Amino acid sequence: MGGLLPAAVLIWDAYTGALGANPIQRATLQTGLLTLTLLVLSLACTPLRLLTGWTWPARIRKALGLLAFGYGALHFLIYLLDHGFSLGAMTEDVLERPFVTAGFTALLLLVPLALTSGRNSVKRLGFARWTRLHQLVYLAASLGALHYYWGVKKDHVPPLIYAGIIAALFLVRFLKRGPVGRRGRGRPGPA
Ligand code: HEM
Repeated sequence: MGGLLPAAVLIWDAYTGALGANPIQRATLQTGLLTLTLLVLSLACTPLRLLTGWTWPARIRKALGLLAFGYGALHFLIYLLDHGFSLGAMTEDVLERPFVTAGFTALLLLVPLALTSGRNSVKRLGFARWTRLHQLVYLAASLGALHYYWGVKKDHVPPLIYAGIIAALFLVRFLKRGPVGRRGRGRPGPA
């Protein structure tokens, strides 16, 4: 429930005019940052569990991932609104601007992950296959950071910090547990 608070604040700010002179741009930036931050937080859950033995990060991982997808979809929706919901203009933008291509690909990668986030999907796909599929979240987050890096005009430090955190989380996960193929099968626990 608390994860919906930023959306409520955004709607309130839009309603009261607090988003400034260019509310669509401001809303795009805010939802983009929120998406990337939630993605990174969801990625941090497994390394945190591996490093500390705590079990609570694994319990909030799915909610964080779904929230990231939700805010990513909202970010995309605001972008579409900015382009008059013209699929032609969007396709042209996706094909011609690498910055938009990266963001669009990141969001597309999150779709199968959101669709298979339930327990039934783990059973249906089998644990090893499900885990491999969900490792795509690292690629999605990296593309999100690249999209951010290419999108900012001046200060490239924040996107580089996000990229560094994603690389560090991947390293911890890899060193502590190894790729799926190297692990024993059937041991429960997400990517
Ligand atoms: C997982 C997917 C995505 C993530 C993590 C993401 C993240 C971000 C971030 C962090 C920013 C910059 C915020 C800032 O400068 O403060 C941003 C800006 C932007 N994103 Fe995304 N994005 C995603 C998907 C998309 C998609 C699918 C589109 C459109 C097809 C898109 C279009 C834009 C645009 C146009 C801006 C720049 C707004 C401006 O400077 O006016 N993004 N995004």
